[in-house]
Amino acid sequence: MVLNPKDSALKATKKEYSEELSKYSMESAKQTETKKIIVQDMTKRGNGEKRAFTFTSEKFAGNGAFGVVYQTRILETGETVAIKKVFQDKRYKNREFQILKMLDHQNVIQMKYAFITNGDTEDEVYLNVVMDYFPENLYQTIEGYTKKRQFFPNTLAKLYAYQMFRGLAYIKGLGICHRDIKPQNILVNAGTLTLKICDFGSAKQLIEGETNIAYICSRYYRAPELIFGNTNYTTAVDVWSTGCVFAELFLGQPIFPGDSNSDQLLEIIKVLGTPTMEQVRSMNPNMKDFVFPPIKPYSWKKVFKQEMDPLALDLLSKVLAYCPHKRLTPLEALAHPYFDELRTRNFQINGKTPPELFDFTSEELMDQPEFAKKLIPSWYSS
Ligand SMILES: Nc1ncnc2c1ncn2[C@@H]1O[C@H](COP(=O)(O)OP(=O)(O)OP(=O)(O)O)[C@@H](O)[C@H]1O
Ligand SMILES: [Mg+2]
Repeated sequence: MVLNPKDSALKATKKEYSEELSKYSMESAKQTETKKIIVQDMTKRGNGEKRAFTFTSEKFAGNGAFGVVYQTRILETGETVAIKKVFQDKRYKNREFQILKMLDHQNVIQMKYAFITNGDTEDEVYLNVVMDYFPENLYQTIEGYTKKRQFFPNTLAKLYAYQMFRGLAYIKGLGICHRDIKPQNILVNAGTLTLKICDFGSAKQLIEGETNIAYICSRYYRAPELIFGNTNYTTAVDVWSTGCVFAELFLGQPIFPGDSNSDQLLEIIKVLGTPTMEQVRSMNPNMKDFVFPPIKPYSWKKVFKQEMDPLALDLLSKVLAYCPHKRLTPLEALAHPYFDELRTRNFQINGKTPPELFDFTSEELMDQPEFAKKLIPSWYSS
């Protein structure tokens, strides 16, 4: 079987991949009349087995630049799922699919099943990725609070930010950079208080020494080193974007709403102040000079309308830092005292117990194992 979830994700050759695509497109074409679709079980337990599923009541759930997402139910399992349908260029292997095969963490979306469908012509091939359905993305959640003219509750922001950083720590451990963290790509379930990073359509496994395109990431969330055109960036770009999302929870709108790539830098400078030459070089060592009127940093406190938790502001200032290597890593962010409240015994939000927050695996802590002590409360491990 070619589509094996145990494959090292980026290993499949183009030939193998186009073979597997044509195999599945033929199968699904055969199945369309019966409305049953042969899917491949991509879960660990499923082990790549083929299953015949009947999808019922398809409903539009969202779209972005390349994909359309539908909500549907699987008759045989009773699961409510989301299907992301992406046009598949047969000439290339689908990087999103290869990365999705690697992911297995509670704060990151997981591919459950996959299948191929055809469009109007045989040549038009779509990859369909089946995932757990989530009722809302963070953009919609923020909008909900703004419409009600309410501030986002600090403890909920804390719980969501924690899960974002934990998801980031996990993908960083796999060497994956998401490159498009923004509220629309964060799924939440307010009922279970769970959060998952989704949309790996721009993600890439970064390899040291190899260059990557800098013109990536939705503008408001684009890290300054990307704006400076650095093609040797690291997963710290995701930490920047997450910082922007964190700030947006409290602001109700993007913190840096630039209307072009250069204006984006201006928006950042208005808050962080003009970067020093040393900071500019830390973002792009090739920058010879940077002429810009000196602007003083704005106080973090004044950025927000409401009275802010000083620990939230402290965390924000350490995450939204110009120098990528001085920016907190996701594990360091998790260890920040702002999140200590979550580590207290019997922590609840409005009488609700949060999801599992401390079941760190050794892989998750691999980069900085010294954080285990801080991140796993003693009451939890004893
Ligand atoms: N599992 C899911 N459950 C519910 N809704 C989802 C799910 N996955 C995605 N969505 C919704 O669909 C929207 C688009 O999905 P996604 O971000 O994966 O695609 P996209 O933005 O088109 O991707 P790309 O960046 O590859 O173009 C999301 O913003 C979200 O609102
Ligand atoms: Mg998206």
